[in-house]
Amino acid sequence: MIMQNIYALKGNICYSKDQKTIEAVENGYVVVENETSRGVFRTLPEKWANAPVTDYGDKLIIPGLVDLHIHAPQYAFRGTGMDLELLDWLNTYTFPEEARYGDLEYAELAYSLFADDLSKGATTRAVVFATVHVPATMLLMEKLERSGIVSLVGKVNMDRSSPAGLQEESAERSANDTIGWLHSCVGKFKNTSPILTPRFIPSCSDDLMRRLGDIQKAFKLPLQSHLSENQSEIEWVSELCPWSMSYGDAYAQFGMFGGENVNAVMAHCVWPTSGEIELIRKNGVYVAHCPQSNMNLASGIAPVRKFLEKNLNVGLGSDVAGGSSASVFRAMSDSIQVSKLYWRLVDGDSAPLTVEEAFYLGTLGGGRFFGKAGSFDDGFEFDAVIIDDGSIIGPAKPNIHDRLSKVIYLSDDRNIIAKYVRGEICGG
Ligand code: GUN
Ligand code: FE
Repeated sequence: MIMQNIYALKGNICYSKDQKTIEAVENGYVVVENETSRGVFRTLPEKWANAPVTDYGDKLIIPGLVDLHIHAPQYAFRGTGMDLELLDWLNTYTFPEEARYGDLEYAELAYSLFADDLSKGATTRAVVFATVHVPATMLLMEKLERSGIVSLVGKVNMDRSSPAGLQEESAERSANDTIGWLHSCVGKFKNTSPILTPRFIPSCSDDLMRRLGDIQKAFKLPLQSHLSENQSEIEWVSELCPWSMSYGDAYAQFGMFGGENVNAVMAHCVWPTSGEIELIRKNGVYVAHCPQSNMNLASGIAPVRKFLEKNLNVGLGSDVAGGSSASVFRAMSDSIQVSKLYWRLVDGDSAPLTVEEAFYLGTLGGGRFFGKAGSFDDGFEFDAVIIDDGSIIGPAKPNIHDRLSKVIYLSDDRNIIAKYVRGEICGG
């Protein structure tokens, strides 16, 4: 007989039904069977009357947060080097820092810090850039597996326009290292798996992109990269790829921009052309909106209202260390704030994002990249965060909507009392 593990959590349950609607069930039950949610109920259904119940009282129970874009090797220097724009920032701060990950002792220290901190926060799923180095990338994957969260981790590919000490020797070497890495990590972990990671067009030759396209097909890998983040970057891509119609089209011509067999997520998309937006929609590409990074690197403000109106797949990314904070709650409040500046300064027809929309982006919007994640509806993988908002709630007893808004704007790791990933309790 197969053992079924069924239990329920009781508390104030909030989750997104869609872009615009948060379902809030006070003193409700979420039923979990093995890894999967069986739904949210006002009273415990008869058929599960004997299931053990963990009663979280007046606490909030929300889906685990999803970070669609974070650079693990940039975590150690976050909060510094914020005086430059993208291309100079990469050359001056980021590439020299990433070169250090050839040294496993450095990687051990820095990746421990990253994985420990991530396990204490509200993130339960993350799409992660590592560096070009295979041994350090394996180390990162082991640490993330131990942290309990679900992650997609990418060994980075870069064979041009990068400094000696970080740039890979040739397209062939980069592709071979990638294949070697995939052989050692595919199927090795329960919660940690590989994602193909051409850094961005300027750092990958056409030869490398073709080879990576073949690897994507052979291993059926998801893919992550950067798209239309900064105007000088976009100009550079149009010089490098004169045969492309847009930055997105350059990826598409290598078979790396979504479509039937490619689950792709592109960070930023601050300056998309209308053709690029249409290609993103048609190919089901995910956009990782990274508002804090876009402020820090003065990249601009992504037209997220437009993305939502066109029903694109959109989630949030912290983009550490472009973003200084790894908190997806912070990404939610930043996304609302930058959307207000966009509305006021750029386009009076692009209404600011609401709390409901920001919460959606950081849960279900990004969660869908992983399949059925980011909601408590029946059939979703059960990732949850239990929040004690006692320290931020104030004496006026706000309603559930306002409590959730306060959590988004004000909570930190001290408010998290438990975290569940794929049905299991995890972390601190
Ligand atoms: N484009 C290419 N590499 C990077 C990176 O590390 N961070 C950001 N924000 N953009 C990039
Ligand atoms: Fe990035």
